[in-house]
Amino acid sequence: MSDLVFKVTPGGKLSGDIRVPGDKSISHRSIILGSIADGITTVEGFLEGEDSLATLEAFRAMGVQIDDVVAGKTTIQGVGLHGLKPPAGSLYLGNSGTSMRLLCGLLAAQAFPTVLTGDKSLSSRPMRRVTDPLTEMGANIVLQEGGVAPIHISAGKLHPIIYDLPVASAQIKSCLLLASLYTDSADGSSQITEPAPCRDHTERMLRGFGYEIGTQGARISITGGGSLSGCHIDVPADISSAAFFLVGASIAEGSDLLLRHVGINPTRTGVINILLAMGADISIENPGEVGGEPVADIRVKYAPLKGIEIPLDQVPLAIDEFPALFIAAACAQGTTTLSGAEELRVKESDRIQVMADGLATLGVTHVVKDDGIIIEGGTLGGGEINSHGDHRIAMAFTMAGLKATKEISIHDCHNVATSFPGFTDLAGKTGISLEYAEK
Ligand code: S3P
Repeated sequence: MSDLVFKVTPGGKLSGDIRVPGDKSISHRSIILGSIADGITTVEGFLEGEDSLATLEAFRAMGVQIDDVVAGKTTIQGVGLHGLKPPAGSLYLGNSGTSMRLLCGLLAAQAFPTVLTGDKSLSSRPMRRVTDPLTEMGANIVLQEGGVAPIHISAGKLHPIIYDLPVASAQIKSCLLLASLYTDSADGSSQITEPAPCRDHTERMLRGFGYEIGTQGARISITGGGSLSGCHIDVPADISSAAFFLVGASIAEGSDLLLRHVGINPTRTGVINILLAMGADISIENPGEVGGEPVADIRVKYAPLKGIEIPLDQVPLAIDEFPALFIAAACAQGTTTLSGAEELRVKESDRIQVMADGLATLGVTHVVKDDGIIIEGGTLGGGEINSHGDHRIAMAFTMAGLKATKEISIHDCHNVATSFPGFTDLAGKTGISLEYAEK
């Protein structure tokens, strides 16, 4: 594939009134749960990015009628828990770890076999974290050597699981919740305990579809044998996409930006909490709720940031926002320390190392740790950055351009389209001097 290069001219500030695209996690789940519900589900605010569209195509391939997404709206004709049909070929899930891991849980319980494949990045990501507990539930799954995709799933009869998640991962939790829908209520309930809170969109959405689940502290219990009723889902703007603009406006003098209708579920707001602790000027306006998910407009203005020790409890709540937060740390006064974030090494890229390499190019002093990084704030230079096809790395370094002293060229940016269609336009509209070219 050709190389998509973003070229950012240094300087500028962010201003305006914008809405970033729909939440990726919620968009995936709207298709998954809408497909296995009884009746019609309507969705608005759906993310028309490659990841969530891969999920949509996978369910179409299993016989679910889903309208083309037009201006974020679609309608799903749910087929019920047992109405999916065998797909004609393997299901290609592109770059999406969420799609692959959640589908493992759902497909392990179907009466037909499936094969799940993905792109180069997804085919190197660890899958045993979901297939091990699924196997314990009775699933028949074969991985490639090293525990990676393609994943071959054949029909299995699942029973409930009592499971302590080894990592605070919403993908593992959601995978097991989906598998548990298909267990026999006579066998009891599944009980899943998380080591620390992580995003709870599946739990909220299951309830929105009328499926009862229990939560007692860190333990979630779910009994199979029920059914889901189609409903309407209003997908909020993705706080993970908003994060780039929160950081950009915080670091660029004179910025004043309003981000509309952003999801502020407390299991996702680590980025706001961390930026506030660094001294950011962020305020929440018009708080409300859509379909069980809290939303608000977020205003962010420039403020001088200071380095902090990032609290451990915020790590799972900001897990996708660290590329952006590393740029905030590089622009802050003093030292920022991140620990307890080894999960960053198994995201779309090794986000600790890839960010560290990019920071080194910009001349930012840092120390890489197994589970995090120490960043000394200072002056940002410029240069050639390799995003390694990781959408969030590409967007984080785009924001760095606001404070850089020289031009920044970011390579391998195609995957920005997985989570943030229209990023380059929105970046330009709000004040970043960004050109892009296929090389
Ligand atoms: C997601 C969970 C997180 C996150 C990913 C989306 C989800 O992954 O990084 O982008 O939608 O459940 P983990 O479960 O691996 O932490």
